Amino acid sequence: MFNMGNKGLFTFLVTLFMLTAFASNAQEGESIFNSKCATCHAPHKDMTGPKLFEVRQKWEEGGAMEGSLYQWVKNWQVAAATDPYAKEVADWAPSAMTTFADLSNEQIDAIFNYVDEQPLPGAGGGESAAGGEMVASTNTQENDLGWIWYILGAVFLVVIFSVGGVKRQLQELDEDAGKEIKVGSKAWMFKNRKYIGMVGLVVVMAGVTWLLVGLNQVGVVTGYQPSQPIAFPHDKHAGINGIDCKYCHNSANKSKSAGIPTTNVCMNCHKQIQGEGDQVEKIKKIYKSAGFSPEGGGKYSGETENIVWNKVHQLPDHVYFNHSQHVEVGGIDCKQCHGDMTKQKELPRVVPVEELNKIEGNIQLTKATLTMGWCIECHGVKEVSSGPIEGKGGYYDEIHKRLLENDETLYEEYLEDGKVTVDELGGWECAKCHY
Ligand code: HEC
Ligand code: HEC
Ligand code: HEC
Ligand code: HEC
Ligand code: HEC
Ligand code: HEC
Repeated sequence: MFNMGNKGLFTFLVTLFMLTAFASNAQEGESIFNSKCATCHAPHKDMTGPKLFEVRQKWEEGGAMEGSLYQWVKNWQVAAATDPYAKEVADWAPSAMTTFADLSNEQIDAIFNYVDEQPLPGAGGGESAAGGEMVASTNTQENDLGWIWYILGAVFLVVIFSVGGVKRQLQELDEDAGKEIKVGSKAWMFKNRKYIGMVGLVVVMAGVTWLLVGLNQVGVVTGYQPSQPIAFPHDKHAGINGIDCKYCHNSANKSKSAGIPTTNVCMNCHKQIQGEGDQVEKIKKIYKSAGFSPEGGGKYSGETENIVWNKVHQLPDHVYFNHSQHVEVGGIDCKQCHGDMTKQKELPRVVPVEELNKIEGNIQLTKATLTMGWCIECHGVKEVSSGPIEGKGGYYDEIHKRLLENDETLYEEYLEDGKVTVDELGGWECAKCHY
């Protein structure tokens, strides 16, 4: 009976492994596809861009140069300039594709693997999804997260080997104690304690995996740059014309979200500034949204229509992030997290951490922007101010006082490196960031 259970447990663990491995590769391809490509592409249907199903085969058969497809996704202009096949593809539509310089070849393959796994709507089951593609898919997985599987593999082996020893001890225990146990739920739990223990272990392992994968979701959001209804140039507004960020993002220092300006804010200036050359067409879009016609001194029709801006920075729903806590209380500049927007020509994006590190005055971090590792890393190094700061002194004095009263030795430990960091105030507690 025990041996049977043992085998069952083994199969269960192996299955769990395989499921986690496949789920997370499919998940990576799927999440990149959905966040970066799905606005223009579908697997089986032409939209703004052509359908992507089996596009790798298509390029290969069409005689594209090797590596040119990766190049295309990273920067189609470069591909079109170097590969005649890519040049033809570029003429497919008058609209152009976004560039994705931050995607790695492995991530691009993960996207195509995901796309090729999507069955034709209506048809039974996309046969072409199987076979060779699955192999490629597992390889990518190993490249990206190989070390996690090695660690888990080791844990797994330890579990399997220790089962033998545990089994013997438990059998001895069983002989003494087993008879005294009465029927009922407690007895059931006691009798099956080895299984319950095992299941508990598996749950913990799954949790650790989930956490590690979460910490290392590198590149899933980095570089994300959606298209926008109006190519709004930050450099001309916040740079050349020196408009303060908070004129438009007016809640960044007051509340959780920074806020995106409404058409009325644009109209404060653009009622007069009608633009010249190719600016005119863009600014007409503002007028359309405001229901404004500039002719004859300007008239409002009353028919308004919101400009729907696509969100660039977006944390998952289970994460809590507050702008005013960072900008106002923490005194962190926008460029620490968003890069230098005064130089951003158009289309804001999630700026990769390597670029953020090059900006003068920024805290140097290593984890990909907007991942959990990134938040945690900064909380581990960023000092919360002490002593009087204009307007905020009271707040920090209060924090230091509270820490001191709470636990003096702990407070001294905190101060050993001469500073109190965000994590020492609780900035690493799961519940601070997760609902
Ligand atoms: C803003 C819209 C847009 C986005 C976003 C976009 N594409 Fe495209 N894509 C296009 C257009 C348009 C074309 C057709 C080429 C052209 O006319 O410039 C294209 C062409 C392609 C092609 C060549 C297709 C063929 O049939 O040869 C591939 C491959 C491709 N895109 C992959 C991607 C991937 C992968 C992503 C996400 C990482 C993506 N695209 C995001 C608009 C987009
Ligand atoms: C400083 C803020 C912060 C703290 C503290 C924090 N997290 Fe997170 N966590 C995040 C962010 C941000 C994400 C989303 C990352 C992403 O989308 O790549 C996340 C994502 C996750 C995910 C999901 C990964 C995924 O694939 O979406 C898990 C699981 C998780 N966190 C668990 C934890 C646990 C457990 C703790 C406590 C030990 C914790 N977090 C503490 C910010 C935090
Ligand atoms: C004249 C108004 C205006 C000013 C000034 C301005 N912005 Fe913006 N900002 C916008 C608009 C409109 C959008 C949405 C359109 C877009 O994403 O291109 C935006 C988008 C953004 C985004 C991306 C939001 C998202 O969806 O994640 C960031 C980050 C940002 N701004 C930061 C800044 C910073 C930092 C400054 C100051 C250096 C600044 N902005 C100044 C109007 C403004
Ligand atoms: C405080 C004044 C002010 C506000 C508010 C303002 N703009 Fe502008 N905008 C300008 C000025 C000045 C220019 C001309 C820049 C130049 O030519 O150097 C301009 C230029 C533009 C252009 C043409 C850029 C180009 O050269 O292609 C667009 C598009 C534009 N604004 C959109 C917006 C939108 C959308 C909003 C609201 C979210 C907005 N502006 C809010 C002052 C403003
Ligand atoms: C500590 C990092 C950090 C700093 C500093 C920061 N932001 Fe953000 N910003 C974020 C994150 C994270 C998001 C995504 C929030 C979400 O999805 O809930 C975001 C989102 C935004 C957005 C999109 C709209 C919104 O509120 O979600 C705008 C606009 C923006 N930030 C502007 C600014 C401006 C302007 C400043 C400076 C005054 C600033 N940010 C400072 C991290 C930061
Ligand atoms: C550049 C550094 C930096 C980054 C990146 C950063 N934070 Fe913070 N965070 C701070 C500082 C500094 C404070 C402390 C502000 C204060 O003094 O209360 C803070 C405080 C917090 C708090 C309140 C903690 C408490 O103890 O009350 C939360 C929640 C939080 N951050 C969430 C996030 C999340 C989620 C992210 C990632 C999306 C993030 N932070 C990224 C610097 C950062």
